[in-house]
Amino acid sequence: MAMENYDVIVLGAGAAGMMCAIEAGRRGRRVVVLDHAQAIGEKIRISGGGRCNFTNLHCAPDRFISENPRFAVSALSRFTPEDFIARLDAHAIAFHEKTLGQLFCDGSAREVIAMLARDAAAAGVSVRLGTAVGEVAAGAGGYEVTTPVGVFSAPSLVVATGGKSIPKMGATGIGYAIAERFGLRVVAPRPGLVPLTFEGALKNMAAGLAGLSLDAVVTHGATRFREGLLFTHRGLSGPSILQISSFWREGEAIAIDLAPGHDVAATIGEARGAGAGRQKVVTALGALMPRRLAEQIAAEAGAALSNLADLTSRQIVGLGTATNHWRVTPSGSEGWRTAEVTVGGVATSELDQRTMAARARPHGPGFGLYFIGEVVDVTGWLGGYNFQWAWSSGWAAGQVV
Ligand code: FDA
Repeated sequence: MAMENYDVIVLGAGAAGMMCAIEAGRRGRRVVVLDHAQAIGEKIRISGGGRCNFTNLHCAPDRFISENPRFAVSALSRFTPEDFIARLDAHAIAFHEKTLGQLFCDGSAREVIAMLARDAAAAGVSVRLGTAVGEVAAGAGGYEVTTPVGVFSAPSLVVATGGKSIPKMGATGIGYAIAERFGLRVVAPRPGLVPLTFEGALKNMAAGLAGLSLDAVVTHGATRFREGLLFTHRGLSGPSILQISSFWREGEAIAIDLAPGHDVAATIGEARGAGAGRQKVVTALGALMPRRLAEQIAAEAGAALSNLADLTSRQIVGLGTATNHWRVTPSGSEGWRTAEVTVGGVATSELDQRTMAARARPHGPGFGLYFIGEVVDVTGWLGGYNFQWAWSSGWAAGQVV
């Protein structure tokens, strides 16, 4: 089989791999990027509803989930959201802040992909698409990667193959196998930023409200998010649920406030005491939340047709609990099919936080085994943090590979 020699092999032409390849190419390194997809940046293309939420202005370590959230600080502080914005500016790509510091392209995510392709070409990077990665081995000159079109060899190997989320988009989890092959510990990968599902009566209830969205506070332990919540045919979704899903584990409960800012029991109790006893319970609840939800909660409490005056004190407390402190245990999540990210991955303790090199492998300027982007156990919140981690970790490795 033909052997091609390079200075750097990058596995994966996603956000992290392309950023790393561009940086290494700019340093004069001979770089090849291998990817089994037919195009670079497939996840960039579908991200942010086609507009790519490419970073977040509030990028800070507390926006990342990891065994060691401090691990990400070095790369994030050396290649910042402002640095990525400068690249967009250089390519005259317009963008805007949508909400909560989230930056999106005005036009299309394809502009970001085109920018990466242009920068890679200018840096002399060779991108080989439609090239599945087979065996990866350590050889005399560094690393050898076997593919159907031949063997590639280089002293630096960068694994940027992403996580397991959305197999249909090309995710394979091969990066974890490569890490384990070289004796690196992997924090068990699980789906993150994913809708949660119910079974039985809860599922029927959610299905009855499917399509309804509202402002909510969702809590799991000490973690809470106040963002939109959406009822689906199988359970719950919306930004607040996606955010909490990255923290949630099977069998655990979450608490949901369906009427943030309103003490429902107190409001109803006061209304009844203030002479509104003939008001329908549904009407009183409907002033605090969407009508369909108010009807559902009143029905569950056996008060669908009741007036406020009919309610016992215990029922009022029950309505408050059902709305402000709704405790539910999801039966599962929608899984890899729809998860936006993979939580877990190559353990940060295995990697050098400045360069992303595997510490147990020989490494230094111009050689080593590197892991960048989503394959690493660094997972951002919803809102552009995952791309920023891909850019920053790719940039950091790109300075040394
Ligand atoms: P990425 O997954 O992008 O790239 C890995 C590459 O490796 C792929 O091109 C794949 O084909 C290739 N590969 C895998 N296995 C291979 C094999 N065996 N052989 C050869 N090649 C192989 N984040 C964010 O910050 N803002 C957002 O708006 C969104 N939106 C969003 C929407 C959707 C629907 C999803 C699924 C995800 C997001 N994300 C996001 C998350 C974000 O897309 C993700 O974190 C980054 O793309 C990760 O970049 P990487 O380069 O690490 O992996």
